[in-house]
Amino acid sequence: MAETTSTVFQDRRLVLCVGPGGVGKTTCAAALGLHAAAQGRRVVVVTIDPARRLAQALGLESCTPGEVVPVVREPGVHLDALILDGAKVFESIVRDNASTAQTAETILNSRMYQATAQRLSGALEFAAMARVQMLVDAGAHDLIVLDTPPTANAIDFLDAPKRVRELIDNPGARLLAGTGRFGARILGLGSSVLSKTLETIGGGQFIGDLGVFLREFADVLEEFHRRGGNFEQLLRSRATGVLLVTSASTFSVREAEAFSSQLAAYGLRVDAVVLNRIDKTVPEPPPKHQLEAVLRSGAAASPVAADTPGVDQVQRIYTAYAGARALGERTRRSIEAISSSRANLQVWTASRRADPPDTLPELRELGAEIFG
Ligand SMILES: Nc1ncnc2c1ncn2[C@@H]1O[C@H](COP(=O)(O)OP(=O)(O)O)[C@@H](O)[C@H]1O
Ligand SMILES: [Mg+2]
Repeated sequence: MAETTSTVFQDRRLVLCVGPGGVGKTTCAAALGLHAAAQGRRVVVVTIDPARRLAQALGLESCTPGEVVPVVREPGVHLDALILDGAKVFESIVRDNASTAQTAETILNSRMYQATAQRLSGALEFAAMARVQMLVDAGAHDLIVLDTPPTANAIDFLDAPKRVRELIDNPGARLLAGTGRFGARILGLGSSVLSKTLETIGGGQFIGDLGVFLREFADVLEEFHRRGGNFEQLLRSRATGVLLVTSASTFSVREAEAFSSQLAAYGLRVDAVVLNRIDKTVPEPPPKHQLEAVLRSGAAASPVAADTPGVDQVQRIYTAYAGARALGERTRRSIEAISSSRANLQVWTASRRADPPDTLPELRELGAEIFG
């Protein structure tokens, strides 16, 4: 049902879910996708590592990785999902851009390609961008929610286009650096070094591969470069929004600030923060006489302990209350601090569920709590 009030990330075409590992990025990406789809937008969630039950809920469990899968198709609600498959993304770029089908096969089968595709640091991140760019170009969705890879910091992800650019600017050195130290020396082609190197890495076949690779891969690299550039533009434009997901327990204002400044260096702004798995605020403990009465009635019901509640017992309960309330208070202060850290920063919270929210109804409910 489309809402008339303002919708989440209304003017965004792409929303990146960033944050440390294990905080609930994938879960929140799915919840956001469902929520935005219910508001009438055609949404696709690009996810990296859904837990098994979440993958099941999204219908991704037995899908072909990399393919868009319909998740919800109801009148006015359109949600798709896909699991990113880095290798497939690279492969499709090679196939689409090599001069001939034969060349594409040669590239894909070359050891250079295989080594590079695997070892290019940030390869998964780059694949994510390339796949998103394909989705943007295809134009079938109003909103793409990208669950970023579980890297320790945002930079790894945002650096991917730059890394590819470096690859283009100095392909020999970079590619070879990706295949180990020996490679860099081959380009120098000192003959003794060369023969030694050939022995070490397995002979002339490799050199042959290298020649083909450098010759044929140039066009493909250009395409990688173009996509990286497009993606950088998209990232920096108003069309991209950033949702920082973090947990209340590991959360520190510092961490969020560090994230924000890293992203700012790329012209990106954190639009909103989700503090996930917030524990419910513990109420004041009951007054002493009431607590004693409760303990007595509990003791009366129990055949073993019929004593009046000891001072210790009451005290322990008060201590437990105090501890839990202090945690709640700390969370509240974190929320306040992050909320006031920057104007226009939206801060949302999601309470801790007893069971992982990994069915569509649970994710809908989570989405309503966070974004509703
Ligand atoms: N609000 C919540 N309450 C309870 N469990 C949650 C909540 N959010 C996420 N989880 C669970 O926490 C685990 C990690 O979540 P996930 O989305 O995979 O994190 P990430 O993608 O950041 O690594 C999953 O088992 C998920 O179901
Ligand atoms: Mg995840």
